Amino acid sequence: MFEVFEELESNVRSYCRKYPVILDGALNAELYSADGEQRYIDFLAVAGSMNYGHNNPEIKGAVLDYLKQDRIINALDMYTKAKEDFLESFENLILKPKNLDYKVMCCGSTGTNAVEAALKLARKNKKRNNIFAFSGAFHGMTLGSLACTTDKVSREGAGIALNNVAFMPYCNSKIDSIGYIEEVLSDDHSGIDKPAGIILETVQAEGGINVADAEWLRSIRKICDKYDIMMIVDDIQVGNGRTGEFFSFERAGIVPDMVILSKSISGFGVPMSLLLIKPEYDIFRPAEHNGTFRGNQLAFVGGKAALEYFTKHNLPSEVKRKGAFIENFIKTEICPLDERLSYRDIGMIWGIDFSEIDSKLALECAHLAFDNGVILEVAGRGDSVLKILSPLTIEDSVLSEGLYILKNVIKKVLSDV
Ligand SMILES: Cc1ncc(COP(=O)(O)O)c(C=O)c1O
Repeated sequence: MFEVFEELESNVRSYCRKYPVILDGALNAELYSADGEQRYIDFLAVAGSMNYGHNNPEIKGAVLDYLKQDRIINALDMYTKAKEDFLESFENLILKPKNLDYKVMCCGSTGTNAVEAALKLARKNKKRNNIFAFSGAFHGMTLGSLACTTDKVSREGAGIALNNVAFMPYCNSKIDSIGYIEEVLSDDHSGIDKPAGIILETVQAEGGINVADAEWLRSIRKICDKYDIMMIVDDIQVGNGRTGEFFSFERAGIVPDMVILSKSISGFGVPMSLLLIKPEYDIFRPAEHNGTFRGNQLAFVGGKAALEYFTKHNLPSEVKRKGAFIENFIKTEICPLDERLSYRDIGMIWGIDFSEIDSKLALECAHLAFDNGVILEVAGRGDSVLKILSPLTIEDSVLSEGLYILKNVIKKVLSDV
């Protein structure tokens, strides 16, 4: 059934091994196999790229209109009408109402490209090599971002030393993370160079749904101010409304020096990444971080339509409502299955942690869930966390159906232990 892929595609392919199906159709939070036989509830959302649902009609409509008019599709970073419209919408619908003053840098198509830009720009601004990242972090696969990424398998792929990054304990560490960072920075014998920037996820998604508390985020902001370090928030996976606000750091009332967006920013699942930069740090010379695909016009068109959708449909309140529904379900239907199960969450990103029972059960649940028509992945140390990440637009009935399937799957897996 999969001969074409097995014969012709590289060994590096991964998700397809967890979900052995040839997919074709996709509508909001449902996916369909190419043979039309299988329907899957999507609790993966292309790793956070489909916050607005697959083929969202309002976003698709804007993209189709654009395509019908023979307008330019790629334009490097030349001025285009589509980019002008996107930038104005982003300013008027998102940045201005939140009192945020950022320059928008259009980066290459993937998230990791914008992470690279952020690291380069921090180093250029502060004229220092070192970066602080956090245990449990995931920032991407190119060398600079990979140096800030912690999981062993990813790092082993680098083939060369990953350096110029020092890892600090994250908010969820047993160590007093803030105290430790303060000590490292204030001790002239700590042996760790002062960094140009501190890069962090406010919620470590790949790291196992580790949610930094607001006070911790504020302390990091204060440390950055005190030691003249740039605070970089990687909002690639948990931005675009995932946590209940457009940006995930809003709940802490902080303003990072740089913010990285990708995944759902194009609204439509097409590649796009942005780096938001406080104006005083916007010092790249023209072409100093170049790239062919920084001018994907379909992404600008979809992105503008997505921002309008976000505002018009008040997605933050939808996320709060559905998040409360998921919480109630997990508390009343899933946790009672075994008192050693725990969960972590914010907005519409949820993790069910099996580590107190047996880490490998999370993956068993993901496999069985797939067999029962729900696609979701595992995350965290030892892959011990089942991660629920549906489109934010998922219909209530589909959400509920997926959760009931998940409950039965977990029940079955636990009963076989
Ligand atoms: C927080 C975070 N940063 C960076 C990346 C890398 O993005 P991309 O895979 O588009 O390069 C990801 C991807 O999962 C991510 O979740």
